[in-house]
Amino acid sequence: MTTIAVLGAGKIGESLLSGLLKAGRAPSDLLFTERFPTRAAELTKTYGITHADVADAVQSADVIVVAVKPQDIEPLLDEMAPNLPSGKLVVSLCAGLPTKLFERRLPESTAVVRVMPNTPMLVGEAMSAISGGAHASDADLALVEELLGSVGMVVRVPESQQDAVTALSGSGPAYFFYLVEAMIDAGILLGIPRATAADLIVQSAVGAAAMLREGGGHPVMLREAVTSPAGTTIAGIRELEKHGVRAALIDAIEAARDRSVELGKAHEDDEPA
Ligand SMILES: NC(=O)c1ccc[n+]([C@@H]2O[C@H](COP(=O)([O-])OP(=O)(O)OC[C@H]3O[C@@H](n4cnc5c(N)ncnc54)[C@H](OP(=O)(O)O)[C@@H]3O)[C@@H](O)[C@H]2O)c1
Repeated sequence: MTTIAVLGAGKIGESLLSGLLKAGRAPSDLLFTERFPTRAAELTKTYGITHADVADAVQSADVIVVAVKPQDIEPLLDEMAPNLPSGKLVVSLCAGLPTKLFERRLPESTAVVRVMPNTPMLVGEAMSAISGGAHASDADLALVEELLGSVGMVVRVPESQQDAVTALSGSGPAYFFYLVEAMIDAGILLGIPRATAADLIVQSAVGAAAMLREGGGHPVMLREAVTSPAGTTIAGIRELEKHGVRAALIDAIEAARDRSVELGKAHEDDEPA
C-alpha cells in the first residue's frame, strides 16, 4: 500500500486527508506534519492519523504532498532536502510554485508533480489541474490523479498552462461567489428577504451546475432553452450585454492570469544563472 504524507495540514491538507480516508485509504497509510501541537492532536483525534515531524514523514512515506502556503516553502524545503531519500514522489499543491523550484532544492531526479487545486476541495468537489516535472513519469501522474480523484475532478495540463488554470479554476469559485452575491443583492432590491433571495439564487446555481455537468449540455444551448421570444430572460440578457459583462469576465480572467505570471517571477529570480 502507498503511504502518503501531507506536509501542512491546513484547510487544503486536511480536506485531502479527509477525502483519502473517505475513498477507503487506511489511517495507517497516512501521515501529516503540522506546526501547532494542539492542531496536530485535534487532527489525530478526528481522523486517527499519525502526526510526524518532517524528517520522519519524508523518510517513511512514498508520496509527499506539500500543502503549506507558498510563502512558507523555503524553510520546509530546507527541512525536506537532507532527509528525502531518492525515488519518492513529491506532489506540490502550492499555488504558483514551479516544479523546477522543487527539483533544484531536492535530491537529484526527484519526481515532482505540480497541482493547482481549488477551494471546493473542502466539500469534495475540487477541480485540480496537474503537471509533471522533468522526472515525473506517467505512472506518477496516474497516481496523483487517483489521489486527487478522491476530492474532485482532475485534469492534466502542460505546466506552461498553470497560470491560465490558476485564473480559471483556481480563482473561478470566487467569481461565482461574486455573481451569487450580486444576484442576492438584486433580490433585496426587488423586495425579497435576504434569506429567501439566497435560497433562490444558491439553489439556482446548484441546479445550473448540475445541468452543465450531468446533463452534458452546452451552456449556449442551455441558456437558449430558457430564453423565449419577447420573454423575461432576454430582457435581462440585453442589460448584461449592454453593460459588457461578457467582456468584463474575459478581462478579469486575463488579469488574474497576468497576476499569476507576475507572482511566479519571484521564484524565477532566485534561479541560478
Ligand atoms: N485555499 C485555497 O483556496 C487554495 C487553492 C489552491 C491552492 N491552494 C494551495 O494550497 C496550499 C495550502 O493552502 P491552505 O489554504 O490550506 O493554507 P493553510 O490553511 O494556511 O494551511 C497550511 C498549513 O501548513 C502549515 N505549515 C506551514 N509551514 C509548515 C511546516 N514547515 N511544517 C508543517 N506545517 C507547516 C501551516 O501551519 P501554521 O498554521 O502554523 O501556519 C498550516 O496549517 C497553499 O500552498 C495554497 O497555495 C490553496
